[in-house]
Amino acid sequence: MAKIKAGVIGATGYAGLEIVRLLLSHPFVEVEAVSSVSFEGQVISEIYPQLTGIFGETLANDAAVVDRCDVVFGSLPAGLSEPIARRCFDAGKLYIDMGADFRLKNEADYKQWYGKDYADPALHEAAVYCIPELHRARLAGAKLIGNPGCYPTSVALGLAPAVKAGAIDPATLVIDSKSGATGAGRGLALNTHYTECNEAFAPYKVAAHRHTPEIEQTLSEFAGREVRVTFVPHLLAVNRGIVSTMYANFMPGFDLAAVRKLYEAFYREEAFVKVLPDGAVANLKNVKYSNYCHISLHADTHTGRLIVVSTIDNMVKGAAGQAIQNMNIALGLEEDAGLRIIPPAF
Ligand SMILES: NC(=O)c1ccc[n+]([C@@H]2O[C@H](COP(=O)([O-])OP(=O)(O)OC[C@H]3O[C@@H](n4cnc5c(N)ncnc54)[C@H](OP(=O)(O)O)[C@@H]3O)[C@@H](O)[C@H]2O)c1
Repeated sequence: MAKIKAGVIGATGYAGLEIVRLLLSHPFVEVEAVSSVSFEGQVISEIYPQLTGIFGETLANDAAVVDRCDVVFGSLPAGLSEPIARRCFDAGKLYIDMGADFRLKNEADYKQWYGKDYADPALHEAAVYCIPELHRARLAGAKLIGNPGCYPTSVALGLAPAVKAGAIDPATLVIDSKSGATGAGRGLALNTHYTECNEAFAPYKVAAHRHTPEIEQTLSEFAGREVRVTFVPHLLAVNRGIVSTMYANFMPGFDLAAVRKLYEAFYREEAFVKVLPDGAVANLKNVKYSNYCHISLHADTHTGRLIVVSTIDNMVKGAAGQAIQNMNIALGLEEDAGLRIIPPAF
């Protein structure tokens, strides 16, 4: 069988490069074309020498990637994806957007948090937002996928079973997340300079991070009513990984044992989401470089609160791995094709 031709726009960015890295081991896909604005005309292995002798594609422009490929991954800063998505859509090609341009169904939320209107509203009608374990049925026939954000993936996977079952009071939810520095991308910024983030630890964008409406969109859907959350991200001085620790009051009639049963049933058939045994604590070192999400469940009996810890690799389950999982589903491939990566122990 001929391999599916995939292309990556923004391939020199962190998430774009991670898609290339994972797709190079995919059994049914070949990386046909990659693009860059800053490095067009250069060979990608000159910029990322770990690809030397493995992948020597010359960086093209966006249009060439769309023309040559069956599936296009766009990995660009927010606000740049609509024209590329339109070109793919009109050509009948599958487009998967890594950024936030096709995640929010409510345009007013997009305008509020990203400062822009949707320029091509018809595209947003067609766009499918999908965390596979929560929404995979939506992908049948999809041609445009808004791949979820990294924090929202860790949060939604960690909370969906409890919120859906009414086991916690969503009005009491507090979400405290930490991300490694690759979450900020490859661009230079003062807060990710070595001397600024090494030996340092602090929240940022306190209760003002752009992922808030995306988190609320999914939790509201699972609660069946509008949910508002307090979400506070922190910058952690590691390269990869997200840990989300989430707190909410138990609803009457629910305790840790009941919630554990709910989670185990919810994720029983899932290849990538693991509910850890009683007493274990989710740790980002156990999911690094992989598409797994580890969830641990805890009770604060003193205050009557459930505490959920959810951890993922922001570059894989939080970005490139989940995009490939979405592609696999949309194209009818085995969902875990190219993603059977065992996390290293150190
Ligand atoms: N990092 C993560 O953990 C993560 C997780 C989930 C989702 N995402 C999303 O994935 C997208 C890419 O993120 P990233 O972390 O890979 O960012 P990044 O490292 O900054 O990469 C973005 C790339 O886009 C390219 N680009 C093209 N046009 C550009 C323009 N006008 N301005 C700036 N860059 C432009 C740049 O490469 P050239 O100059 O070579 O073209 C740049 O390297 C973002 O939307 C981000 O929100 C990231």
